[in-house]
Amino acid sequence: MRTQVGIIGGGPSGLLLSQLLHVRGIDTVVLERHTRDYVLGRIRAGVLEHGFAKLMREAQVGERMDREGQVHDGFAIAHDGVRERVDLKGLTGGNSVIVYGQTELTRDLYEGRDRLGGVVVHEAEDVAPHGLEGDRPYLSYRKDGKDERVDCDYVVGCDGFHGVSRKSIPKERIREHERVYPFGWLGVLTRTPPVSHELIYATHDRGFALCSLRSPMLSRYYIQVPLSDAVDQWSDEAFFSELKRRLPEDVGAAMVTGPSIEKSIAPLRSYVVEPMRYGRMFLAGDAAHIVPPTGARGLNSAASDVYYLYHALLDHYERGDDRDIDAYSAKALARVWKGQRFSWWMTTLLHRFPDASAFDRQLQKTDLAYLFSSRHALASLAENYVGLPF
Ligand code: PHB
Repeated sequence: MRTQVGIIGGGPSGLLLSQLLHVRGIDTVVLERHTRDYVLGRIRAGVLEHGFAKLMREAQVGERMDREGQVHDGFAIAHDGVRERVDLKGLTGGNSVIVYGQTELTRDLYEGRDRLGGVVVHEAEDVAPHGLEGDRPYLSYRKDGKDERVDCDYVVGCDGFHGVSRKSIPKERIREHERVYPFGWLGVLTRTPPVSHELIYATHDRGFALCSLRSPMLSRYYIQVPLSDAVDQWSDEAFFSELKRRLPEDVGAAMVTGPSIEKSIAPLRSYVVEPMRYGRMFLAGDAAHIVPPTGARGLNSAASDVYYLYHALLDHYERGDDRDIDAYSAKALARVWKGQRFSWWMTTLLHRFPDASAFDRQLQKTDLAYLFSSRHALASLAENYVGLPF
């Protein structure tokens, strides 16, 4: 097979890039290790920046998102028994976020790919990039026991943190930055009406908690837990009773609980690899960077990589201009680091760190008090949350 851009990974980043390029007449092949159902079974956050929503529309896959996604003009931070609202719209001069599950978004992207006749190969085994330092890169893989090959101009690694793309880069050509947090998030999905139509991030002496949602009948709740905890230690009853203890009383009292339909623990990590390019391969999304989920930056940081790469590839194919190809890593990383800073800050502000000194705790309390005493501080939070410009 021959294509222009060979994409490793059929998650949201790979599919969105493929769809955007296809609309502009640039040919891509997407290789995905898993089945479509497996990809659609992954439950991830669903808070989309307005810039991300714009990209979905440009890719001609924004219709259902605009119809079924919920526009959120604000969210709350609960602390010390009270709930304070962050007025995203008012603080940013009119911007908001859209709550739309990653599962739904991925489904729309697959439908878009099908509609345009895009090539997405599922269950592609042992995918590997080759010839990245030359000008004829190619991808090899196995499908139904047969060896296959895709020749291309460029390779894009959208295959997540554990994918083969980043691992194919010689260690001496990259620099890795990492912070691992000493706790995880225990998340529960229930078929119940959400306790609040806006998200509530809560900080409490017992730890962080989050009330989120997927739809008017689907709630997503999280609590901070020690890394040593296992999912099966947490019954639904224990989960909800701990969650309620960390929320203001009126919120806990109003909460409708129900059996969990999904329950999992995710560790929290910040990670960035530099540069995001190796020869003719570019990295995008989780393949290059991970954030803790606290600021809802994960999917959005991936979308900004896709934005820069899409425009760089358009310039290359439509105008023969490679300046943005050469600038991709630096441009993408500048925004990636802003997302890193923001999610590190929100994580640090709202969680209980087991090894925190009295000094650390006092700074944390002061950070929170300052936030709600200054419109400038709140505006800074809001502009990061709705997404900084690309
Ligand atoms: C979620 O709904 O899963 C979610 C929302 C906001 C976050 C993290 C996760 O910051």
